[in-house]
Amino acid sequence: MTHATAQPRRQTGAATARRTVTLTGVQPTGDLHLGNYVGAIRPLAEIAADPARDVYVFVADLHALNSRPDPAALRERSRRLAAALLACGLDRPNVHLYRQSRVPAVARMAALLSNVAAKGLLNRAHAYKASVAANVAAGRDPDHSVNMGLYSYPLLMAADILALGADEVPVGADQAQHLEIAVDLAQQFSRTYRPGVLREPRALIAEPTATLPGLDGRKMSKSYDNMITLMAEPNVMSKQIRRIVTDSTPPEQPKDPDRCTLIALLRTFADPRTVAAFETRYRTGGVGYGEVKQLLANVIDAHVAPIRNRYHRLLSDPAELDARLAKGEQHARQRADRTLAETMAAMGL
Ligand code: ADP
Ligand code: TRP
Repeated sequence: MTHATAQPRRQTGAATARRTVTLTGVQPTGDLHLGNYVGAIRPLAEIAADPARDVYVFVADLHALNSRPDPAALRERSRRLAAALLACGLDRPNVHLYRQSRVPAVARMAALLSNVAAKGLLNRAHAYKASVAANVAAGRDPDHSVNMGLYSYPLLMAADILALGADEVPVGADQAQHLEIAVDLAQQFSRTYRPGVLREPRALIAEPTATLPGLDGRKMSKSYDNMITLMAEPNVMSKQIRRIVTDSTPPEQPKDPDRCTLIALLRTFADPRTVAAFETRYRTGGVGYGEVKQLLANVIDAHVAPIRNRYHRLLSDPAELDARLAKGEQHARQRADRTLAETMAAMGL
């Protein structure tokens, strides 16, 4: 993670150290894959391992509505995502897990901020611009099938961040523009109404080098259908790993480890000595891809098996999962309600 858009922090009160508030949201749009785990969830769990931080992590179920998912599917995916987040190391006293839709102050904050956000600012947002460009290229109306959920996506995201008073927001590089919009809205609010009510967030942007390749060597992504699913059973995961594309160099010939997806995955999950041994064998020749795939399947399974077990345990106990969410939601509501009240007061409501 880099501190990409470091902003000077306004110091309030005495020099007493205030706990850093870290916040991020994850959309319940599909099964988590190893790329999400390595690029987003594991780094967040590392941040959360510092008990001096308060971490707010939420299932962005309101955001997911803009693609109009089947209601039962959305409900199920939201539960699975909540269980997965807890299972991945976020089950800690300093982590507050919630569903975005259960914190009404977020949507109310978005309604207030809609009066601060210039329409032109949202016209320039990447996701909306990409939809318009695709429509124009296809000869359709520019706003064909664009709903207001998609259009105002960055506004809702700013509300998530500002309502909870986040100091830092870890996100992938694709979300950098959304963070800039959130900072912009906080600054405009401070200028127009009252400074000190909405805290300016700092983006923690994941390093591009942390991108995990998928089965075809491109970035692992649900858009490319090249994923290794995080919670897959071992036999399904081995099958996915066997599908990783390699070249046709025969086992006895030397190979370049830096051009092999298997080695890239091994570097992420295996211990450095195993990786070094395989890199040497690649360079000297004498290693077949089948052997590496088998090792990779074992190494990844050893890493994810405890996570998968915790995940299934949580999903098999709906009352327990509900209780965890209720606790996180109560905490998030208290915090967001406070900011909302100050925001309303500053605006004359
Ligand atoms: P997808 O590309 O599958 O749609 P998302 O865009 O929903 O994934 O990504 C959610 C989070 O997971 C983001 O923070 C993103 O940076 C991270 N992420 C997704 N794919 C990868 C990958 N292949 N390597 C590292 N991080 C990834
Ligand atoms: N838009 C983010 C994504 O697709 C998810 C998200 C919604 C989010 N609200 C947020 C991330 C607030 C950080 C902070 O990955």
